Amino acid sequence: MSSTKVAVITGTNSNLGLNIAYRLIEKSNPEDKLTIVVTSRTLPRARECIDLIKKFVNTLDRPGSVDYDYLLVDFTNMVSILDAYYSLSNRYDHINYFFVNAAQGVYSGIDWFAAVKEVFSNPLEAVTNPTYKIQRVGVKSKDGMGLVFQANVFGPYYLIQKILPLLQAGQATIVWVSSIMSAPKYLSLQDMQLLKSDVSYEGSKRLVDLLHSASYKDQKKLGIRQYLTHPGIFTSLSFFQYLNVFTYYGMLFLFYVARWIGSSWHNIEGYKAANAPVYVATMANPNFEMEQMKYGSATYRDGLEYIKTDEVDTSGAEDVYQYIKDLKVEWDEKLKDQIKQTRLPL
Ligand SMILES: NC(=O)c1ccc[n+]([C@@H]2O[C@H](COP(=O)([O-])OP(=O)(O)OC[C@H]3O[C@@H](n4cnc5c(N)ncnc54)[C@H](OP(=O)(O)O)[C@@H]3O)[C@@H](O)[C@H]2O)c1
Repeated sequence: MSSTKVAVITGTNSNLGLNIAYRLIEKSNPEDKLTIVVTSRTLPRARECIDLIKKFVNTLDRPGSVDYDYLLVDFTNMVSILDAYYSLSNRYDHINYFFVNAAQGVYSGIDWFAAVKEVFSNPLEAVTNPTYKIQRVGVKSKDGMGLVFQANVFGPYYLIQKILPLLQAGQATIVWVSSIMSAPKYLSLQDMQLLKSDVSYEGSKRLVDLLHSASYKDQKKLGIRQYLTHPGIFTSLSFFQYLNVFTYYGMLFLFYVARWIGSSWHNIEGYKAANAPVYVATMANPNFEMEQMKYGSATYRDGLEYIKTDEVDTSGAEDVYQYIKDLKVEWDEKLKDQIKQTRLPL
C-alpha cells in the first residue's frame, strides 16, 4: 500500500477536476502506482467520471497501474463530510495529493440586459470579470451555515483537518483552487459566511486565498505542502445550463478574442486550466518554496501554456483563519453528539 500514491480530487466530474486527474496521471512518475479517489455528490456521476479517466489511461503507455476509488461527499452537509473522513481513514493509511476543486455558487440566472451592455462596452472585462451572473443572497445550508461558504471553504477545510494524519503520512500536497475573481472587495470581514453578499462565489474565493495565506505555515510544520492556485478562465460544464447554442458559441468566440488581444487568463480548455494545480503538486520542491504565491494557469496568444504567479493581498487573513478555526471547534463539539446518536443500537 505504501508504494501507491493516493490522490483525492474533489468535484472530479467537472471540466477542471477531470483534467487535473489526466494531467496528474501524465506528470507523475510512470512507475508509480496511483490511486485516484474521485468525489461526487452522486454515484452515477462518480461512476461516469471513473469511466472517463479509465478511457484516458488506456491511451497511455504507463507501466505503473492506476486504480480508482470514489467518495460520495456533499460539502454543504457536515455529516456527509464526517462520513467522508471515516471512509478515507478506513481505506487508506496515507494520502499524497488533495485537490480542493469542488465549488458551487447560488446562481439564479444571467442578467441579459447587463450582459449585453457589458459585452458591447468592454468585451474583455465582460469575459474576464463578469458581473451579470445573478447570485441569490442569504442562502443557508441545512446545517445553518452560509451555503457557498460551507461548500467552497469551511467544508473542505474541515475534511482536511480531519484527515491530517493521512496527509502527514503521505507528506501530502494540498492544492486549493481559487479564482482570478477573488479581489478583496468581494469579502466583508463582518460577513464571513457571505450571507449578506450578492457575490458570495467570489467572496468564497477571497476566503480561500486568505485561509491558505494564514494556514500554509501550520501545514508545513506537519510536513504537508499547501498551495494556492487558480485555473484562469475556461468552459465550465455547470454554466452551460444558462446558455443556448448561440450564447455558448458567442461566449466561446469572445474567449478567443480576449486571448488574442492579450488576456493571459483565457485558457478556454479545461486541460490548460489544470496546468497550475498539477504543476504545484508535481514540482520537485523539497524546500516548500513560494507557498505564499498564487499560481495561475496562463496561456500566450498562440495557446502555449505557462504558469503565472501573483502575490496575495493578505489583509484580514488572520481574522479569517481564527474564525474558521473557532468554527471547526464548534462543529467538532456538535458532531460528537451526532456520531454518538448514529451509533446507538436499534
Ligand atoms: N470555470 C471557470 O472559468 C473557473 C474560473 C475560476 C475558478 N474556477 C474554479 O475551478 C473549479 C472547477 O470549476 P468547474 O467550472 O470545472 O466546476 P463545475 O462544472 O462548476 O463543477 C463543480 C464540481 O464541484 C462539485 N460540487 C459542487 N458542489 C458541491 C458540494 N456541495 N459538495 C461536493 N461537491 C460539490 C460537483 O460535483 P458533483 O456535481 O459530481 O457532486 C462538480 O463536479 C471550481 O473550484 C471553480 O470555482 C473555475
